[in-house]
Amino acid sequence: MCGIVGYVGAKQAAPILLDGLERLEYRGYDSSGIAVINNGIIDIEKAKGRLKVLRDKTENGSTVSGTMGIGHTRWATHGEPSDVNAHPHLSQSGRFAVVHNGIIENYMALRERLTSKGFEFISETDTEVIAHLFEYYYKGDIMDAIIKVMDRVEGSYALGVLSSDYPDQFVAVRKASPLIVGLGEGENFIASDVTAILKHTRNVYYLEDNEIVVLKKDEVKVYNADKEEVKKEVFTVDWDVSAAEKGGYEHFMIKEIEEQPKALRATISPRIKDGRIVLDDVSLTREDIKNINKIFIVACGSAYHVGVVAKYVIEKLCRIPVEAQIASEFRYCDPIVTSRDLVIVISQSGETADTLEALKVAKSRGARVLSIVNVVGSAIANASDDVIYTWAGPEIAVATTKAYSTQLSVVYLLALYMAEKLGTLTSGQYNKYLTELQALPELVERVLEDKEQFAYLASKFYNCHSIFFIGRNLDYAVSLEGSLKLKEISYIHSEAYAAGELKHGTISLIEKGTLVIALATGGELFDKTVSNIKEVTARHAVVIGVTTTEHTMENVVDHIIQIPVTSDIFLPSLSVIPLQLFSYYVAAQKGYDIDKPRNLAKSVTVE
Ligand code: G6P
Repeated sequence: MCGIVGYVGAKQAAPILLDGLERLEYRGYDSSGIAVINNGIIDIEKAKGRLKVLRDKTENGSTVSGTMGIGHTRWATHGEPSDVNAHPHLSQSGRFAVVHNGIIENYMALRERLTSKGFEFISETDTEVIAHLFEYYYKGDIMDAIIKVMDRVEGSYALGVLSSDYPDQFVAVRKASPLIVGLGEGENFIASDVTAILKHTRNVYYLEDNEIVVLKKDEVKVYNADKEEVKKEVFTVDWDVSAAEKGGYEHFMIKEIEEQPKALRATISPRIKDGRIVLDDVSLTREDIKNINKIFIVACGSAYHVGVVAKYVIEKLCRIPVEAQIASEFRYCDPIVTSRDLVIVISQSGETADTLEALKVAKSRGARVLSIVNVVGSAIANASDDVIYTWAGPEIAVATTKAYSTQLSVVYLLALYMAEKLGTLTSGQYNKYLTELQALPELVERVLEDKEQFAYLASKFYNCHSIFFIGRNLDYAVSLEGSLKLKEISYIHSEAYAAGELKHGTISLIEKGTLVIALATGGELFDKTVSNIKEVTARHAVVIGVTTTEHTMENVVDHIIQIPVTSDIFLPSLSVIPLQLFSYYVAAQKGYDIDKPRNLAKSVTVE
């Protein structure tokens, strides 16, 4: 989704803005723009398409001079991607320039009202109303104007506002859209996320909803909507700058796939002490856990797929009923959630609009919310009762890999933690699981060793028009993720099916040569899945089978992928790796833009 960067300091702003925007490219966008103030005049450059177009147009920023400015990458919602719809948007007289992330829900009414007052609109965006509203309400004090604007607009926004009346400061505000403040030496920043400014500073403020920030070269002040100054805590981000760089890899996605063992170690190891799981960040007591009536897991996309795995794992280990739900459905289904329920929210970015709103619905009904989040200080983390962070580091590729894997590892930690408190496992079982969990990163490393076979399979099948993924229970949960990964980056139609369900309709799509990727890793259900594989091979499907080294699929499937043996609950962490790699190599064969697939955004801040 849209990305925002702002800079005030002693250096030329435009190159810094362009560099920051480049680091936000992964969020997804289709046009970009910058506004820089110079001698009291706002200079704007915008361009449809990739940032390179804007770079070329401004000769890498050198044609736009000035030491303060705002920049934006736009993911079109209101109005097609075009130069004119790109941000920043100017107010009628050119006094205000605005960049915006989010959606102004009452923009039609505001547009009509402003039009009746003589304002002329040149774009189709909802954002332009904000620029004109500033002008309409401005009576000489920008703080008063911003408070009025906040009062009038409905919806979500992160705003960066430049005014020709204020040549040494700019303002920003957020409500339900991400925005952070970067604190430098003689320079300060705003950004949609820290990766944009990590190169310049690690010290940040996380803004709360309705907080207004005024940034000058040597000073940053934060206010609430009553114009009272708010004392903010400075957070120091420990993400490594190199973690947000490609570092010699062709794509972020393959780099992040390879980083999974390291990310798993970082997430698991500090939470195991003296042979026990210690979750310092979780305040749930033994009594609280015993009193849980039901667990809801709410998330979007791949994070939801982690939730599907979690349902099987938590129910098996803790014997508490679990329901995994897609956040955009949960929030509007009038869910039967009470104060006796635990809602687990999973989100890499911690900013996904539907997930955040679903969390609020759960809280409003009295449920306790525990979130699994990768971004410290994000909106979901802030709104939760408990947070368990995944220590995956920044994930740049739109198609998630290491965030998915670390979320899974947190699910294992949490399930075992609760099982211990509930006494649903013997100490022998608990210890065995713990030993295996600690060995997971090494097993993932083993799967990653032989990447050649996945590249080979991709070269054989990249021209397929449709690919089916099948599996039972946990294998089904992983199939969902494998199918999504493939769709996201290779644009091949794909479906994931519970292996036993295929014959109730979908098997009619299987014909000679259809590729089916069958997961049969779980010991107990291996034979059952093999029967389902036979059903598709009888209809001349070509099958890639994914199983453990404990099983053989010879004479059953056309190609076998084997993963190491561990307890069934941990197998998703291993079986997902071949599916990630297969998707990656298929997309690479097709020459697609793997890290920034068409139409997709990394951080989805609109519903
Ligand atoms: C987008 C991303 C997915 C991600 C989903 C949820 O659709 O492309 O990779 O799984 O959002 O994002 P979250 O940040 O909440 O995990």
